[in-house]
Amino acid sequence: MSASSPIGQDVDRAASILRCGGLVAMPTETVYGLAANAFDPTAVAKIFEAKQRPTFDPLIVHIADQDQLAMLVQGIPARYQILMETFWPGPLTLLFEKTAEVADLVTSGLPTVAVRMPDHSMALELIHKAGTPLAAPSANPFGRTSPTTADHVARQLGGKVDYILDAGPSRVGVESTILRESGGRFEILRPGGITRERLEEVLGQEVVLISSDESGTAIEAPGQLKEHYAPRTPLVVAGEEDESGASQRRALMTVGLEQQQDRKGFTHIVNLSPAGDLVEAAAGFFAALHELDRMGLDLIVVDRFPEEGLGIALNDRLGRAVHRD
Ligand code: TXA
Ligand code: MG
Repeated sequence: MSASSPIGQDVDRAASILRCGGLVAMPTETVYGLAANAFDPTAVAKIFEAKQRPTFDPLIVHIADQDQLAMLVQGIPARYQILMETFWPGPLTLLFEKTAEVADLVTSGLPTVAVRMPDHSMALELIHKAGTPLAAPSANPFGRTSPTTADHVARQLGGKVDYILDAGPSRVGVESTILRESGGRFEILRPGGITRERLEEVLGQEVVLISSDESGTAIEAPGQLKEHYAPRTPLVVAGEEDESGASQRRALMTVGLEQQQDRKGFTHIVNLSPAGDLVEAAAGFFAALHELDRMGLDLIVVDRFPEEGLGIALNDRLGRAVHRD
């Protein structure tokens, strides 16, 4: 394959590539995914190769209707029904007991499979036309910043994917919330596009956000891996800068207006939402990281987000993007 991948809106072409065992970058409402036929282990193996992703990190399977769910899971926990009715299609991934047909490579040998139905018309059309559920992690090299446009995919994985389906910027901007039920208890393995408050409201019970070390699975949700979502430019949380580098070319990423007073010494300031709207901030977060990463700066400083609503998912991504050995 050449160093670039074709980009376009040809869903039929993308579906036929998937049916033939190829890889397609698929737009979703959260971030762009790198999709392959979930029932074709050779195709799924290509995802790991393209992303340089350790095979112990399992993939989310994307479906377009309930019939496809039946092919993947042993049964539907009763309490999932209300969640599926309320949040599907949408940024909520649920863990189910898997059927034997789901390749071990998809689940990294786990007995559970993570499934979601994306709230994106082109993704749903693609899954329908491919005629199979699609395994798809975010379409970035392992550990790097998630893509929210076709251009982000082309820059990071160009040449490694057979076709990039372009539907413009992703609406939500952070990945799905990953939720599981065990023994009547609901646990969030990764905070994301559906907030804990919304889940609790619909379930009428407490939902706990567990840290990845408590998850009790052989793998850890995306978090257990130390470095994730990282731009190439060093990134720090505001207030944790090393002052010796004060003369460096630095950018500030912030949200709301209060925090902007007296912020000097930055060559660029990106305000994800002057109004302090965390939905708007989430939609622009990864795109702003990609953009700042291309500017040849020495440091990206990011203000911590308010620890509420989507701010919880954003702080999770921020904390992981910061880690550097
Ligand atoms: O919004 C999203 O979820 C995006 C779009 C493309 O759908 N996908 C996404 O995939 O974020 P990925 O691979 O970047 O993150 C999925 C995470 C993995 O890091 C993995 O740890 C967790 O889901 N996961 C998948 N299957 C699991 C399982 N059976 N048990 C526990 N965690 C699982
Ligand atoms: Mg990812």
